[in-house]
Amino acid sequence: MNKIPVITIDGPSGSGKGTVATLTAKDLGFRLLDSGALYRSLAVSAIKREVNLEDHQQLADLARCLNIEFDLFNSGSVWLDGEDVSLSIRTDIVSKAASLLGTIPAVRTALHEQQLAFRKEPGLVADGRDMGTVVFPDALVKIYLTARLEERVQRRYKQLIDKGIDATLPLLLRDLKERDAKDSERPISPLKPAKDAVVLDTTDLQVDQVVQLVMSIVRDRLAS
Ligand code: C5P
Repeated sequence: MNKIPVITIDGPSGSGKGTVATLTAKDLGFRLLDSGALYRSLAVSAIKREVNLEDHQQLADLARCLNIEFDLFNSGSVWLDGEDVSLSIRTDIVSKAASLLGTIPAVRTALHEQQLAFRKEPGLVADGRDMGTVVFPDALVKIYLTARLEERVQRRYKQLIDKGIDATLPLLLRDLKERDAKDSERPISPLKPAKDAVVLDTTDLQVDQVVQLVMSIVRDRLAS
């Protein structure tokens, strides 16, 4: 049995899981796994190498060699093969490709191993879609964040604009709806709360309120 504690934070796009996971990891002094950034980085790598997105074997091979690092203390930047890809992984084309890669079983298997390797002392906060259901079923605490679609669209819009990435609300609404449907309806590792997850609706909450809630659940669990 692996004794290293894992906190999983799953949920749909724009639910705030990335920000909440980063702040929670900082608070606890734990490592961070942004699993969506793995799917996104694989998409960047595949597009750059002109890999056919229908060639599942080649994509899985690429996923196994993915050399990715997160710089938690430098505003959560993401490095792929030594290159800062924090902005390029957030573009529309990469979001769509990442969502498509998420439906390929061979890719999920390859990334599964990569994700397990993030579990190191003193502990891990992992965010994504299937962290609590599939990748870390023995997690100490499982959180599932949700929020109303309109609120999630607004949040994603602000995030992109703040990063200097072009975005429009109607296109984002369409994109989030499409990705929600793809993520929830795929047969393998669909987006859904784990049976033992605490579900938090963040629509009317500020980020620091959500982090406080999560931290109080984690502290209770660590103390028991
Ligand atoms: O979380 P984020 O929006 O960055 O994830 C990008 C895409 O990667 C998602 O739309 C989803 O299809 C895929 N993904 C996944 N499983 C995860 C994390 C992300 O399938 N654990």
